[in-house]
Amino acid sequence: MKLTYFGHSAFQIETRSTRLLIDPFIDQNPLAHGVVTSDSLDADYILLTHAHGDHWGDTPKIAKRTGATVVGCFELVGYLASKHGYQNTVGTNVGGAVRFDWGAVRFTHARHSSSFPDGTYGGVACGLLIEAEGRLLYHAGDTEPFYEMGWISGGRTIDVAMLPIGDCFTMGPESSIKTVELLKPKAVVPIHYNTFPPIRVEPDRLEWWRSAVRAAGSEPSVLPPGGSMTV
Ligand code: NI
Ligand code: MN
Repeated sequence: MKLTYFGHSAFQIETRSTRLLIDPFIDQNPLAHGVVTSDSLDADYILLTHAHGDHWGDTPKIAKRTGATVVGCFELVGYLASKHGYQNTVGTNVGGAVRFDWGAVRFTHARHSSSFPDGTYGGVACGLLIEAEGRLLYHAGDTEPFYEMGWISGGRTIDVAMLPIGDCFTMGPESSIKTVELLKPKAVVPIHYNTFPPIRVEPDRLEWWRSAVRAAGSEPSVLPPGGSMTV
């Protein structure tokens, strides 16, 4: 499968049969400018970690145009129905797995908050454990490290972990290494950094991060916005 990063926490995953979007914060995402617009994205499914504007992003617009199935916390997708009249959703909650013809997503705990830009309660913040085509991907959402990450994969190997490193609202480069040690993924893609001044990670700190990830036994995969990797 192919993973494409749009900056911040936004990804597209293309399997042989299905196009997934994660946290499609595109048009207001400074890192996505000149790389992609929400109008140009196709999706069969949109997976959401939480309701904050920098994750929820362009979901209503993309969903209405593409007819994608939106999967997220019960309260989050409920808002899509009540405020945007969009019904093609699957509501979940922490710990729950949902299965589709292309694979499965389990919504995992994240230590964070979740409200919509207008203040509406968005349920709880989650991470995503995605299984497709024999691969296991973990998108941590916005969170700090927590000890239970050690058993989030159920003993299976995580092929790619997408981990925030921007600090301020989530774990930073240093604390993300604790997460790498707990998860032991094959590869780590850093996310949720350099989008806005409070989450800027200077190049030398990013370089330090790369070597610390290697020292922890994983491969750092720093993707530029628009960059992709095959898993
Ligand atoms: Ni957030
Ligand atoms: Mn965020």
